[in-house]
Amino acid sequence: NTMLQWQRTAFHFQPQKNWMNGFLPSSSSLFFLFSNRFYRSLMFCCLFVSLARISMDPDPNGPVFYKGWYHLFYQYNPDSAVWGNITWGHAVSRDLIHWRHLPLAMVADHWYDLNGVWTGSATILPDGNLIMLYTGSTNESVQVQNLAVPSDPSDPLLLKWIKSDANPVLLPPPGVGPKDFRDPTTAWYEEEAAAWRLAIGTKEDEGHSGIVLVYQTKDFLTYELLPGMLHAVAGTGMWECVDFYPVGTKAEDGGLDTSVTTGEKVKHVLKASMDDDRHDYYAIGTYDSETARWVPDDPEMDVGIGLRYDWGKFYASKTFYDTKSSRRVLWGWIGETDSEYADIQKGWASLQGIPRTVLLDVKTGSNLLQWPVEEVKSLRAGSQEFTNISVSSGSVVPLDVLNSAAQLDIEAEFEIDAASLAETLEADVGYNCSTSGGANRRGALGPFGLLVLADPKLSEQTAVYFYIAKKTDGGLQTHFCHDEMQSSCANDIYKRVVGSKVPVLDGETLTVRILVDHSIVESFAQGGRTCITSRVYPTEAIYNSARVFIFNNATGARVTAKSIKIWHMNSANIIDSRSPY
Ligand code: FRU
Repeated sequence: NTMLQWQRTAFHFQPQKNWMNGFLPSSSSLFFLFSNRFYRSLMFCCLFVSLARISMDPDPNGPVFYKGWYHLFYQYNPDSAVWGNITWGHAVSRDLIHWRHLPLAMVADHWYDLNGVWTGSATILPDGNLIMLYTGSTNESVQVQNLAVPSDPSDPLLLKWIKSDANPVLLPPPGVGPKDFRDPTTAWYEEEAAAWRLAIGTKEDEGHSGIVLVYQTKDFLTYELLPGMLHAVAGTGMWECVDFYPVGTKAEDGGLDTSVTTGEKVKHVLKASMDDDRHDYYAIGTYDSETARWVPDDPEMDVGIGLRYDWGKFYASKTFYDTKSSRRVLWGWIGETDSEYADIQKGWASLQGIPRTVLLDVKTGSNLLQWPVEEVKSLRAGSQEFTNISVSSGSVVPLDVLNSAAQLDIEAEFEIDAASLAETLEADVGYNCSTSGGANRRGALGPFGLLVLADPKLSEQTAVYFYIAKKTDGGLQTHFCHDEMQSSCANDIYKRVVGSKVPVLDGETLTVRILVDHSIVESFAQGGRTCITSRVYPTEAIYNSARVFIFNNATGARVTAKSIKIWHMNSANIIDSRSPY
């Protein structure tokens, strides 16, 4: 049991535990349990013990900065570690890192949300008032949009909410399926129309297209569906948790408020969570207020077929404009990749990723930069730095990380010797993180990188690595990947090799930042151009046996770890609502 406890994270947001409900495993899960070497021992102590679980599916809902506090609401099942009975959990923080749990903000108590208070978004009005739009799954499981407001707007903790008498304020329009109409965005203000607009994702059966509708409103009570649609992409299916926001195109631009829609130097990001493949895809493009349409800069990199926020486990994310620090912050729900049975054993399921600032990458112009909010640095404790470690082909070098390497913030910079780059003739055009054999498949110029949450014998390891492929024209294409295949000896884990290309511009070295927190590894390559999150469940690489190694599996190159800085991370000590403020 201590091992399952150990997998709880120390500085990622998770709901509290709830040990109050009972549970008895079914016969099929009993079979699974016996086939699993480390749950076998737990079995006897846990079988007849009353266990409780908490949440599943904590999509971030209505994140907002309000009267000095960051608020996070999330999809929460107070009764179980599996999805169902969805309410809005609630927590507040001064810095996006140290959280206080608060009582549930909204529960299913009206016919229009009886089957769940689903995902929604906050909009701050010019007078400072806050409105919340969310999806209700009705008593008949129809998806409708509802309005809620704080019952006491002067309460910075926003403890109590009033649902509008006008609810539901939006029903699925003709032609839209009753179960395909959910997750309203934050609204943006259109000067010309003197009205607010918001977007909602749905799908069209013909062509299996994902589509985004735009509604216009002056009072958030009555809405007009604008003709046409913001965007549609054939073959992508239902778009959940659509997000739509502006990004500046100049280096000095910070984040932009959602209502900044015009100006020649503004691009718009459209993001959707694809119900079909459970990934968050985005694209950069241009929004036209007059027609309420958005077009991608590059149709080949459209939403659902091009870029993802994250190539690992990361879904149902949402951004908000942080008025405190003038930045746009992205939250993502990080689900589990172990079995539902294990979740029930643990009594919890899912995390929130570390919030990320989001900016357009003005150097490439074609991708976003995502980076852990700077407040995460406040958890950095002692640091160690390793410099100029030369790693010969085929070798693994342990790093003497003091104590446990379970809670780390790592910044690493690698260089591959120029002669090897030039001399290598091998063309590797078809390289793909997911299908090219992971960290053990050796090529001329990769893979190389770090092994984290690795035990001293390397029986468990999560590889975070680069692979440089030579193109037929002699140019180089760098890939950034995670190999989870050896991340755990447990056999109920869904393990993959994931990742994608990462742009490396002339004169740049290869850099990666990695946050390690017990059962999560979040990596940001080249300043956040390509990001990967893995859930991993070490059974050996725990406590003082959690280590870090450098590895180089390139056959034709010596790699130099120019600098590897490692900070031990303090715990964020997330506290419950009974503590004094
Ligand atoms: C995404 C999602 C949303 C929905 C909510 C229900 O994970 O399916 O589309 O509003 O979760 O919990």
